[in-house]
Amino acid sequence: MKETMAEAFNRQINAEMYSSYLYLSMEAYFQSIGLNGFAVWMRAQVQEELMHAMKFYDFVFERNGKVKLEAIEKPESHWGSPLDAFEAILKHEQHVSSLIDDLVNLAIEEKDHASNIFLQWFVTEQVEEESTVGAIVDRLRLIERDNAGLFMMDAELGKRVFTPPAPSE
Ligand code: FEO
Repeated sequence: MKETMAEAFNRQINAEMYSSYLYLSMEAYFQSIGLNGFAVWMRAQVQEELMHAMKFYDFVFERNGKVKLEAIEKPESHWGSPLDAFEAILKHEQHVSSLIDDLVNLAIEEKDHASNIFLQWFVTEQVEEESTVGAIVDRLRLIERDNAGLFMMDAELGKRVFTPPAPSE
């Protein structure tokens, strides 16, 4: 793969690792306020982001690109409320979607069809991530300051299990 493309993919490995780190920080936040179901949801998210980073990592190697790992930025460690944290996630995922769009644009510019096809999985994934998080934000807005509602959501989100993708995905 061209160097410009490999460099852009390396930046994305870093962005996905940062996402994983951010959600790990949120897991700790939710644990600290006793919402363990939310923390379980975050752990699945941590693993999912790590899987995203590894997908980019493996692809760069597969295309004979050079993997260069950079420092991961320090994430926030405190949020004012569960709603505050999920609004931050939504904003973050919208940012990640724009990064993926930029990569697709670059792949088209560079006429790198293999990278373009590879990136389509992430385009779809971002639609799903934004939709899932957006729905949680809507529900948190509805139950704001209603502890019974919050505990019900905690029990529900605590059922999330991370499923690793099949090898062909
Ligand atoms: Fe890897 Fe949540 O985007």
